[in-house]
Amino acid sequence: MSAATAAPPRKAAVPKIRQTKLLIGGEWCDAASGKTFATMNPVTEEKIADVAYAGEADVDRAVKAARKAFESGPWHTMDARDRGRLMNRLADLIEQNQEELAALETLDNGKPIRDSRAADIPLVIDCLRYYAGWADKISGQTIPIRGDYFCYTRREPTGVAGQIIPWNFPALMTAWKWGPALAAGCTIVMKPAEQTPLSCLRLGELAMEAGIPAGVINILPGFGDTGAAIVKHRGVDKIAFTGSTETAQFIMRDAAPSLKRLTFELGGKSPNIVFADCDLDAAVAGSEFGLFFNQGQCCCAGSRVFVEEKIHAKFVEQIVSRAQARKLGDPFDSETTQGPQVDRDQFDKIMRYIESGKNAGAECLTGGQRVGDRGFFVAPTVFDRVTDDMEIAQDEIFGPVMSILPFKNLDEVVQRANTTCYGLAAAVWTRDVAKAHHIANSVRAGTVWINCYDVFDAAAPFGGFKMSGMGRELGEAALANYTELKTVTMNLK
Ligand code: NAI
Ligand code: MG
Repeated sequence: MSAATAAPPRKAAVPKIRQTKLLIGGEWCDAASGKTFATMNPVTEEKIADVAYAGEADVDRAVKAARKAFESGPWHTMDARDRGRLMNRLADLIEQNQEELAALETLDNGKPIRDSRAADIPLVIDCLRYYAGWADKISGQTIPIRGDYFCYTRREPTGVAGQIIPWNFPALMTAWKWGPALAAGCTIVMKPAEQTPLSCLRLGELAMEAGIPAGVINILPGFGDTGAAIVKHRGVDKIAFTGSTETAQFIMRDAAPSLKRLTFELGGKSPNIVFADCDLDAAVAGSEFGLFFNQGQCCCAGSRVFVEEKIHAKFVEQIVSRAQARKLGDPFDSETTQGPQVDRDQFDKIMRYIESGKNAGAECLTGGQRVGDRGFFVAPTVFDRVTDDMEIAQDEIFGPVMSILPFKNLDEVVQRANTTCYGLAAAVWTRDVAKAHHIANSVRAGTVWINCYDVFDAAAPFGGFKMSGMGRELGEAALANYTELKTVTMNLK
């Protein structure tokens, strides 16, 4: 299959909203309570559509449908090659509807169309194809144990997976969750974020069209209470969650009575370390991308930029001019590089942190204010002379706010980079190979980028040390989240 050949238009067309209901057991339905909620456009602050709001009764029905599809349905018992084939068919349908899905993502989330076209949706397709390839390659081992026995292991699907995702990459987080779960033979009860349910619902329609059996994927839009009902339900075997560290703590407590398997991909305060011997142009461009991409709404954003004193003045001058050159505006225009923040809560949180930085004495070199009076636009903001103890150096801001922290030497910067409760990602910019690997080995983070930032691939595992998470997504590693290991021993005498 090849992607559409015609160049997409500069102004993307606003997509039609096709689906706003719950998906349960292969049927699209209203919530049992009849309740709906509005999903909002972050550019206009107006309602896009009313979406069905799943409550406890809907969660119960969806879990039962998922259990049935798991236990007696054709999913994990079907030929693994056929499972892979259906996943590939879904990927093909997504590819055929790429422009519509990109526009839907931009409408609901506010992210620039150039990013949804070039990053979000292509990565969704890659992820599903990558895991489609795993479906028939999940195998166990034969183990030489003492005595006259034949011992081997099997990898069996965990069962019904509850999957709860955030709003920053709505379609991509759906794919990261569906890919390994489907390949392993699990069935799914998915809750998209309340801010951005639309692309997940459209993916659900495409999954039905692809022929993925009824009940294998169930989708329940709703808020935190919907998520909590999934977490507490006894019919759910495992929870995979991406979002805030605080919500993960709630989930751990709610999952305790039934000892569900848990995997978490949470917040970060990632250090981005720029040494004087780097390629400065590349480091500045990479630092801009590493922080401002997706309006700063990335769990792995390089939000603590450590810059060696010797190049501090030059770095600051260049990053400020790049921050000021960012094009804020209509995300449907392909020239726009920065859209609005996703909603008022996130906008208010960011503005509070900007005030906190100013009050703590950090130098605000550019930005620091709202842009316009409609839509949640925040000017690209750069704080200099940030110190480790400031709130803006410790908390996840999740917005277009860069903190620059000057440093003098290697040992100092390693120690300071690790002075955080988080450990999701880190980057280092240097031409010195030994220094690069010293940093890669010393920084406590799940991902380290050397002379690059935000390089993601479906094959490469991603996840956090410390309070940034548990378990890994993507790659072969994510299959462990959706399989149980079974040991079988047979007496040969
Ligand atoms: P959140 O963690 O509250 O929301 C994420 C998802 O969890 C949503 O689908 C939400 O409905 C659901 N949820 C909320 N409460 C729940 C509960 N008690 N049980 C089960 N599910 C529940 O994150 P929120 O409020 O959208 O953002 C707050 C902050 O979290 C952000 O400012 C950012 O710092 C961080 N965050 C990190 C993300 C990441 O990619 N690691 C993504 C989104 C937010
Ligand atoms: Mg919330």
